[in-house]
Amino acid sequence: MEEKLIKVKELLKKYHQEHLLTFFDDLNSENKELLLNQILNIDFELMNQLYENTKKPVEIDIDSIEPMPYVDKSKLSKEELDLYYKKGVEPIKSGKLAVVTMAGGQGTRLGHNGPKGTYDLGLPSHKSIFELLCDTLISARNTYGVVIPWYIMTSNENNSDTIDFFEKHNYFNYPKEAVHFFKQGELPMISTDGKILLNENGLVKLAANGHGGIFESMFKNNVLDELKSEGIEWVFICGVDNVLVKMVDPLLMGLCINNNILAGGKSTVKTGPNERVGVFCKKNGKPGIVEYTEISEEMANLRDENGELVFGDLHMVCNVFNIKALEKIYKNKLPYHSAFKKANYMDENKQIVTSDVPNAYKFEAFIFDAFTALDDMAILRVKREDEFAPVKNATGVDSPETARKLYTDYWSNNS
Ligand code: UD1
Repeated sequence: MEEKLIKVKELLKKYHQEHLLTFFDDLNSENKELLLNQILNIDFELMNQLYENTKKPVEIDIDSIEPMPYVDKSKLSKEELDLYYKKGVEPIKSGKLAVVTMAGGQGTRLGHNGPKGTYDLGLPSHKSIFELLCDTLISARNTYGVVIPWYIMTSNENNSDTIDFFEKHNYFNYPKEAVHFFKQGELPMISTDGKILLNENGLVKLAANGHGGIFESMFKNNVLDELKSEGIEWVFICGVDNVLVKMVDPLLMGLCINNNILAGGKSTVKTGPNERVGVFCKKNGKPGIVEYTEISEEMANLRDENGELVFGDLHMVCNVFNIKALEKIYKNKLPYHSAFKKANYMDENKQIVTSDVPNAYKFEAFIFDAFTALDDMAILRVKREDEFAPVKNATGVDSPETARKLYTDYWSNNS
């Protein structure tokens, strides 16, 4: 440990982060080792760069952005629907599809103390979000005669709670061996003056590095190799918060296959210019998303001759990738976006700092920044009431109440 400590001290001196060892002597030997390893794993150059970026305004080059072409499901002819269905159903039936649910987040915004997927939506069945998603896989097994492998991306914070929940609920009667968990990565949080924070235990304060970390995590956790060795060719990736998500959709895959495109995504029309969602677009001719935090008033309000929003196709976080696309994507480093958040941490006087207002930076990569590595994406515009019922806020828009209604209405019309 002595040698490691010397190395760590040199590193911290170089990057002016010596405070990270303030409580080193108070730690037990296990945590001492842990802290040293945490520090050795930090990419200090990256952290410096991310801190500098927090001082710069986010700028998007509007001239590089164009609307993204899409296919409107409701306008497809019967022949087109049949063709896409036929092309998409073949790989599903022959076991070439796997699904990944990104569930690294907690239910904090919903007032739920636990992984977001474990939230009880308040339906008469009291099913959790995970169980509602699993129901779609059970139904796909009945329709297509295959057990579709289900990968769940967790975070360090919620991995064991998530697995315990699946165990406790007997994997919702889905074959346990078809359910896999892997963890996303983390990055240190920093203060407004660029100091890396310590948590209440005197260890580095880490936070999940955003869902864009999924590609690297799939690679590092051997998920990509596993998928390939199982003969998987297509991977559907979605968030955990849409209770009407169609994780197995022959149409979206068929559209990609028919057009020889290696990835596809679902969109639906924004309720209005101010809906807090990302929208599909082309950036320098490549597929991309303009996030709601970045879009200008002017761009959000732009309408075409029919009165439709020009940038109105919202990103549902429901995308499908051919394995070749994933192999191409994971090698690219994605940019990190900073978020100013409330954080509890331990200051240099060993005092726990809490705050009612944001006081620290967290850094996240977004899955959709990877889209620009692809030449094209097939976008299928679907009806909101059929496929989009997000659960994000405790009350109001995108709340359990709205999602419950959308879910109940959908199933009373479609069962
Ligand atoms: C997200 C999208 C937005 C999209 C909208 C649709 C981002 C940044 N924006 O907004 O483009 O139009 O949903 O509903 O995603 N997650 C992880 N690990 C993380 C962070 C998030 O697994 O580190 C998961 C969450 O559990 C969730 C999903 O990713 O299932 C979306 O993340 P969230 O932060 O809720 O995004 P939104 O701001 O709602």
